Amino acid sequence: MDIKQRMTELIQKINQANDDYHTKDQPTITDYQYDQLLKELIELEQAYPLLKQENSPTEKIGGLILDGFEKVTHVIPMMSLSNVFNSDELKSFDERILKQVRDYSFVTELKIDGLAVSLKYQKGRFVRAATRGNGLIGEDVTHNVKTIKSLPLILNEAIDIEVRGEIFMPHKSFKQLNEERMNQNEPLFANPRNAAAGTIRQLDSKIVAQRNLDLFVYTIVSANQYVTTQFEALKYLESLGFKVNPNYKHVKDVNDLIQVIQDYDDLRKSLPYDTDGVVIKVNELELYDRIGYTAKSPKWATAYKFQAEQAETILKDITFQIGRTGVVTPVAELEPVFISGSTVARATLHNEDYILSKDIRVWDVVLVHKAGEIIPEVISVVTSKRESQKPFEMIKTCPICKSPLERKSGEADYYCTNLECPGRNMNSLIHFASRVAMDIDTLGEKVVETLHDLGYLSKIPDIYSLKNYAQELKDIPGFGDKKVDKLLAAIEASKKQSLDKLIFGLGIKHVGAKVAKTLIKHYPTMDLLIEATYEDLTEINDIGEMIAQSIVSYFNKQAHIDMIDELKAHGLNMTHEKTENITHEFNGKTLVLTGKLELFSRDQATFLIEKCGGKVASSVSAKTDYVIAGEDAGSKLKKALELGVTVLSEADFKVKIDGLY
Ligand code: IVH
Repeated sequence: MDIKQRMTELIQKINQANDDYHTKDQPTITDYQYDQLLKELIELEQAYPLLKQENSPTEKIGGLILDGFEKVTHVIPMMSLSNVFNSDELKSFDERILKQVRDYSFVTELKIDGLAVSLKYQKGRFVRAATRGNGLIGEDVTHNVKTIKSLPLILNEAIDIEVRGEIFMPHKSFKQLNEERMNQNEPLFANPRNAAAGTIRQLDSKIVAQRNLDLFVYTIVSANQYVTTQFEALKYLESLGFKVNPNYKHVKDVNDLIQVIQDYDDLRKSLPYDTDGVVIKVNELELYDRIGYTAKSPKWATAYKFQAEQAETILKDITFQIGRTGVVTPVAELEPVFISGSTVARATLHNEDYILSKDIRVWDVVLVHKAGEIIPEVISVVTSKRESQKPFEMIKTCPICKSPLERKSGEADYYCTNLECPGRNMNSLIHFASRVAMDIDTLGEKVVETLHDLGYLSKIPDIYSLKNYAQELKDIPGFGDKKVDKLLAAIEASKKQSLDKLIFGLGIKHVGAKVAKTLIKHYPTMDLLIEATYEDLTEINDIGEMIAQSIVSYFNKQAHIDMIDELKAHGLNMTHEKTENITHEFNGKTLVLTGKLELFSRDQATFLIEKCGGKVASSVSAKTDYVIAGEDAGSKLKKALELGVTVLSEADFKVKIDGLY
């Protein structure tokens, strides 16, 4: 067969297969057969570039890399839609139309959750795709849109036409993309809409081609030149070769609309792509101008937004969050789940009564939704999936400061009785993160306030758990990807902050930056400082009785020790590292401590010896280089003297390590 003829045949076969698979959803050949055809065509086109045809499906493989996107002006603006949330609002929408016109009907379509695109064809050939942008000026994304398999490059009629539709990422592609990103340690996309929007703005169309975007077309621009109703417009779009979402309906009046919307709400749960409502449009195009427009949207159409979506997930733990008034709110820590467009990992449980009335228990499978589409809430327990968990019991003491909680009569909430509780005063968080303390860039007062109010930050260690909620944080208005990434990076970096800054950051009364610096010279680890006695501390120059007392009482509180343990578990630096290399006579030597030491605790002495490069052993042998003998030293000292090991008094030891602490 002649090469040109074979190429034409391949193009026809592949285009047919594409149409059957992507537009009609009815595959006619296997993936393998498809790949073989495509491979043969690519090889022929590479060998005979002059024979390459304009409607070749190889156009969909991508390849062009752009520097940026050209701007495109929408001669007919791309408007948005008003919203209605219930049947009353829907009736008002209908009444407003009724004031302008009579004898109208509706068309309902699924509202696809993606991004709008305008597609231009000349003489039936695809020439340009543009994003919505601000409605008047969008961006030219022709090369990226070309990679969408269901987009017809040539229409079934050689007409000039502009159409509009929604680019979206099917669930399957979204899952695959995020799995790949997870493996490569790249940030995940929060939802398919974000992923589709991010993909369409890729400069490398090869990447776009791999991401498997799809497209539903729903509007003909200046449709009255071609048809008289929206219903006919959709039929005509289908006949031209566009992929039109099949779930559209002609509905006679507002009463029928209410039933139809219920059906859509049931249907959408089984669909392999995200939808966020039903678009309701007056069917008769000739009425549009009489019904009119607002500045942003047509009055002949609206979007009915679905009620909050629900999802089942596992309740892994119940934690408690303290508000600024001291109110203690139980919070559900959930196995992350995707609800109404974002990932949810925590949800409010309101108060003790709410939990008990629904008998919510840790490790239950629970049903979660977004109240008002914003605040995640646990609605109920899936009791059929319960396996003998313990009933919930409200805590009795404040999780932050351990003070008793109090439930005032007639109220459902518990309050922390400590007016100075760090959980309610964000000052301790603000101080900890501040430049003079841990220096966590971007965790300023405002951000702390927001994260505190939303329940992400109650106590200092919560700062280091924020990374578990990265996706949710990105969805907070005014936050976004960049800001959150920067914040989390600064938090990670702060783990290496010096010990004195950490001590200062704890906010111990009377311990300022200078005192903290003095403390680490004498107590080069956090544990040593925790163990320091009032007497030890007052021995130190610059540490007066008031400071010593404050330090001791700070570390006497179990809540503070727990908090430091949490910080340790997060990997914060708890050691004062000397930067210079020490060439010390203890370097490489083995030392044994014996007797009662007066000037140092065992831990302190061990730490200092190790800092010099020495090792501390527990028994004396021929390998021992030094024995440090305190008061009442016994058998070890005797053995050292027998073996001729150098014996140092505590005072000698102090001289040798002077300047190291
Ligand atoms: S018609 C005048 N139909 O929803 C507005 N829009 O909030 C014409 N959308 O920007 C839009 N599915 O991105 C229309 N079947 C559908 C839709 C749909 C999704 C999006 C579109 C639009 C937004 C309006």
